[in-house]
Amino acid sequence: MISKNIALIGFMGTGKTSVGKILARRLGWPVVDVDLYIEAKENKIITDIFEKAGEAYFRLLEKEAIREICKRRQIVITTGGGAALDPENLEALKASSHVIGLSARPETIYRRIKDSRRRPLLDGKDKLKEIERLLAVRKPFYEKADFYFQTDGRSAAQMAGHILRTLAEKIA
Ligand code: S3P
Repeated sequence: MISKNIALIGFMGTGKTSVGKILARRLGWPVVDVDLYIEAKENKIITDIFEKAGEAYFRLLEKEAIREICKRRQIVITTGGGAALDPENLEALKASSHVIGLSARPETIYRRIKDSRRRPLLDGKDKLKEIERLLAVRKPFYEKADFYFQTDGRSAAQMAGHILRTLAEKIA
């Protein structure tokens, strides 16, 4: 019934990974996570790529990964929080997938990711302030998704159910 892939975009800590896993289980599709795809291909973790080669190089790897992943069908794609800022990435995602944007309030995001060691963009900064700043810059990009949902106070399972119902209603 769902003809295209489903791709999740949104800020760090909005639940893309958890929601993606549930969607994939319900649809019987694999999840392809862009960050994990890059890590497997480069045999390095994202934090090391940022540290040793810099963010600009990571963004090139991310763009290449998205181009490759979008050739596949019947998958759930979960992206890193910066992926949708590049217009070519968004275009490739939209051509192959229903793009779902997830959002949350800065405080919710902070609570979800404050202890994470996998968020190099926030390292060494006042995390809540940096989340607020980056979120304000990035929100207009996330809003370009085909559907855009708030996740505060909702579990990953509730979000997945909501997404599947919306797609069934709107695109069937
Ligand atoms: C990034 C988010 C991370 C990862 C990288 C950059 C960003 O993914 O891609 O650290 O620019 O927001 P998550 O959104 O899964 O944390």
